[in-house]
Amino acid sequence: MAHGDLKYTLLDYRAPSRHTWLCSAASVLIGVTLILTIAFYTTSSSNIHTISSSHNNGARSTIKSTEGPGSVESESGVVAADDGRCSEIGVQILKIGGHAVDAAVAVALCSGVVHPFSSGLGGGSFIVVRNSASGEALALDARETAPAAASTDMYRDNPTSKSKGPLSAGVPGELAGLHAAWTRYGRLPWRDLFLPSIKLARDGFVVAMQEKEALILADPGLTEVLAPGGKLLLVNETCYNPKLAATLEEISEKGPDAFYKGSLGENFIKDVKNLGGILTMEDLKEYKVVIKRALEIEAMGYTLLGMHPPSSGTVGMALILNILDSYRSVQAVQGLLGLHRIIESMKHMFAVRMNLGDPDFVNVTLDVSNMLSPSFAAKIRQKIVDNATFSPSYYMPKWSQLRDNGTSHFCVVDSDRNAVAMTTTVNFYFGAGVLSPSTGIVLNNEMDDFSVPSELTPDELPPAPANFIKPRKRPLSSMTPLIILKENQLAGVVGASGGTKIIPAVLQVFLNHFVLGMDPLASVQKSRVYHKLIPNKVTYENYTAIDGELIEFEKSSKLFLEKRGHVLENTSSSAVCQLVVHDLGEPVQNWDGKRRNWRNFLRRNTENAVFKGMLTAVSDLRKDGAPAGI
Ligand SMILES: *[C@@H]1O[C@H](CO)[C@@H](O)[C@H](O)[C@H]1NC(C)=O
Ligand SMILES: *[C@@H]1O[C@H](CO)[C@@H](O)[C@H](O)[C@H]1NC(C)=O
Ligand SMILES: *[C@@H]1O[C@H](CO)[C@@H](O)[C@H](O)[C@H]1NC(C)=O
Ligand SMILES: *[C@@H]1O[C@H](CO)[C@@H](O)[C@H](O)[C@H]1NC(C)=O
Ligand SMILES: *[C@@H]1O[C@H](CO)[C@@H](O)[C@H](O)[C@H]1NC(C)=O
Ligand SMILES: *[C@@H]1O[C@H](CO)[C@@H](O)[C@H](O)[C@H]1NC(C)=O
Repeated sequence: MAHGDLKYTLLDYRAPSRHTWLCSAASVLIGVTLILTIAFYTTSSSNIHTISSSHNNGARSTIKSTEGPGSVESESGVVAADDGRCSEIGVQILKIGGHAVDAAVAVALCSGVVHPFSSGLGGGSFIVVRNSASGEALALDARETAPAAASTDMYRDNPTSKSKGPLSAGVPGELAGLHAAWTRYGRLPWRDLFLPSIKLARDGFVVAMQEKEALILADPGLTEVLAPGGKLLLVNETCYNPKLAATLEEISEKGPDAFYKGSLGENFIKDVKNLGGILTMEDLKEYKVVIKRALEIEAMGYTLLGMHPPSSGTVGMALILNILDSYRSVQAVQGLLGLHRIIESMKHMFAVRMNLGDPDFVNVTLDVSNMLSPSFAAKIRQKIVDNATFSPSYYMPKWSQLRDNGTSHFCVVDSDRNAVAMTTTVNFYFGAGVLSPSTGIVLNNEMDDFSVPSELTPDELPPAPANFIKPRKRPLSSMTPLIILKENQLAGVVGASGGTKIIPAVLQVFLNHFVLGMDPLASVQKSRVYHKLIPNKVTYENYTAIDGELIEFEKSSKLFLEKRGHVLENTSSSAVCQLVVHDLGEPVQNWDGKRRNWRNFLRRNTENAVFKGMLTAVSDLRKDGAPAGI
């Protein structure tokens, strides 16, 4: 087929500046729609491996076969999603001059279609965006909110309904978040960002993962889409979601009001009510994206841009990195002793983070400033010893741990070095386990991320009051989308899915590359450890990934940790991390001593201009994703 010709056309097209883009918009757009429509459905993750070395204004894009399919390089733009089809759709948007935000919208919509078990219009997300020219960085909180009819004790009589069925759903924020980001930064028409996903939903997409048969068959909506005629679709069979295609089409033409204020929303609410849910049209109308300047933390010579609470991710990272930073040496995090200190820092962080909640409802000022404070971290560090770990009470946890899960994360960087880190979710696998039959939208079960007074907690700690339900409140989250800067230049984008495992995963990948100097692919692939304080166990990865790659945790590491009193248990359930690294041209050993050289290097070479080096995108082989580059 004409994929080669098509690629040629797209590559020949010079990515324009915003000004040029506007001038040539009319002529290009006519072609764009056509090209998009053809391109997206002819590309698949397997095509990615056929892109070898193309030239576009001197830019290079190469799959480094030596590094395996999990990694791609480009000087012009990259997307690292957890599904190769969605990465490729994002890159097509970048190729025609889209801003990183345009690509992010298209990638998020694609993920919602091909991975309805992880994310979609019925869920919510955190989006961190940095515009390279102005340096402006925004944190968009599009997390689900409790409906107006929700109450602190609403699950007392039926605890299961907190995580399963329509009562477990918060008001969806995904679409509002995408639109808010696009309104600020988008360059391409809103409608065009939907075309690839409409096509996937309508003309069918290949099923990449299929689990939870019982859950699917228990819901008529899910059954219709994923088990037509009562027979579960298998991996590699084609799935159709025509209702979702129609929903996406309507939103592409009428904007998000079609859902939040219009007939689509009314149909969605009707479905939810019929099933026994309490969401109302008023809830949809009242939904607001919370937009703030990104939370900025300085650690180990880098600036990390991320979300404010109700995300515990950025402040959690800050606390851990400040603890490790207080050792004042890069050696502190190296080797097995480094691993022990990382685990101890994580245990302290998990104890502290449960003080957090939605800042619009609880005063978390003191807890946030503690978690961001180097002196607070230094005090905690004094409690860490190199030869022992301790039982949970030593870390003084007050409240039962949040146990969230599910989710999808992707990273986008465009040719101008604008960047997006987005983590999106419906919470559990297939969220509430409910698909709205008239709209094709899967309902989230984000209410499960709240704490409730009647909860029987597995860790025997009381539920966290800062995270109790209130109407319109947002539950605490582990999601940690981050944009990383070095001397005010983009250095990377990172994030992960996997609930409680997200912060440990993002932490280890960050340290692996930015502090310990491992290459991007190895930084993501390396076996990781996880902890959640209670149970008092280190879980570690030691298995063969989907593509046959061994993720090995050494026996000697296990013995080293056991000698310090850690109890280790292997796990096959991992966080899934996506990473983009921007090569700024100097070695990463900058933490103690070489900073001046580095600064001089940038002055010499960029003089406040936006630096443009090689971009490397990595999708985690733990979920069989693939990145894409221009
Ligand atoms: C799905 O198709 C791919 C590519 O043709 C193949 O490698 C894989 O083994 C198939 N998976 C299953 C479960 O059939
Ligand atoms: C929140 O807590 C901080 C520190 O404890 C306090 O200084 C501040 O006045 C409180 N804010 C409100 C609105 O109560
Ligand atoms: C760790 O070292 C301290 C002092 O160096 C010692 O008192 C303590 O017993 C050691 N703990 C273990 C578990 O070896
Ligand atoms: C999420 O958490 C729940 C409860 O802790 C568990 O039953 C479920 O299997 C987890 N995983 C997914 C992918 O939903
Ligand atoms: C990891 O798995 C391999 C088998 O694949 C096994 O030989 C090894 O002992 C395991 N290591 C640990 C630390 O469990
Ligand atoms: C580790 O996990 C694998 C599968 O995930 C399992 O086969 C193996 O028995 C486990 N080993 C230990 C020591 O728990």
